[in-house]
Amino acid sequence: VAATPEGASDVRRPGSAPAAGLPAESVDDLRAVEESLCRFRARHASRIGAAARHLLDAGGKRLRPLLSCATARALGHDPRPQIDLVAAVELVHAGSLLHDDVIDGAELRRGRRAAHAEFDAHTAILAGDFLFSWAFDRLARDGSRELQIAMGDAIRNLCEGEVLERERRFDATADLAHARLVNRLKTAELFAYAAEAGTLLAGADESARGAARAYGLALGEAFQTVDDLLDWAGDAAALGKPPGQDLAEGLVTVPAALGLERDPELRGAIRAAWDAAGGDGGRAADEVRGRLERCGAFAAARAGEALAGLPAGPWRDRLAQAARAAVSRDR
Ligand code: IPE
Ligand code: IPE
Ligand code: MG
Ligand code: MG
Repeated sequence: VAATPEGASDVRRPGSAPAAGLPAESVDDLRAVEESLCRFRARHASRIGAAARHLLDAGGKRLRPLLSCATARALGHDPRPQIDLVAAVELVHAGSLLHDDVIDGAELRRGRRAAHAEFDAHTAILAGDFLFSWAFDRLARDGSRELQIAMGDAIRNLCEGEVLERERRFDATADLAHARLVNRLKTAELFAYAAEAGTLLAGADESARGAARAYGLALGEAFQTVDDLLDWAGDAAALGKPPGQDLAEGLVTVPAALGLERDPELRGAIRAAWDAAGGDGGRAADEVRGRLERCGAFAAARAGEALAGLPAGPWRDRLAQAARAAVSRDR
């Protein structure tokens, strides 16, 4: 690993969401997160570093570190002096995306060729491990034991969720409980970590930590549910990846499972889509999507309730707004 002295380069985030609409403090936090990620990127000139940079440079919403910053600020704490700890969660998220695109056989990520397609699967997998390792390095140097333990828990859950999801591929009897458990493990637990991490940095008591975790868990579940829905009904340009991949991969996600509960015929349509090799697949998928829309199958976020455990104020209001935005996004 080629290491150069740490130093922030310019902050460029091609393909990332505009900062418009964020409160001034979050814009500052986002800039600090980007600078922290640049310090990481500047250190690794090797092929494995290039694969990690390929993803990090492509932008992304940086939601998880921003969530940590928001819960820290909700407790009156400025997270910027500890930004390398905060940004560790984005390194883990990025590592999980490198792995996820290999697992899902996805060719596009953040509007670019996925790293395994641009480099090769071995490099992408090991770059993911590399990112996990650097995240723990940051926590081990400057973070608390609680942060390290919570991060370990989140990553183990993520791995379990990814495998659990694969176990029920092309299984039309997979139900809503299965889909929700997958989403909690693979996505929501890292959101819960991110929300709790902000309260840990703020030195919060157990009850604020628990409230932040519950909020992050609900937000993450809502977020992944919308990700699932966008795979059925989203726009490729806005998403930076083509929709329809979950169905093609044989995954029964939350919207599909909800649709199955309400409309037993959907089960047959999903099976038909899976059975149709090539030619008929598009039409069957359209039928599934149409039925799903008619079912109005969509889970609403429960995150607002959990926020009662955090102090009232503008940051709590913003967190509530973020939960609402998570269910009305298109990317
Ligand atoms: C993508 O997460 C993976 C999911 C958990 C759905 P994001 O939608 O936060 O991805 P980026 O970081 O903005 O690219
Ligand atoms: C996202 O799973 C969860 C992780 C990255 C662990 P998906 O496979 O649903 O996410 P996208 O749709 O590829 O972003
Ligand atoms: Mg995927
Ligand atoms: Mg996946």
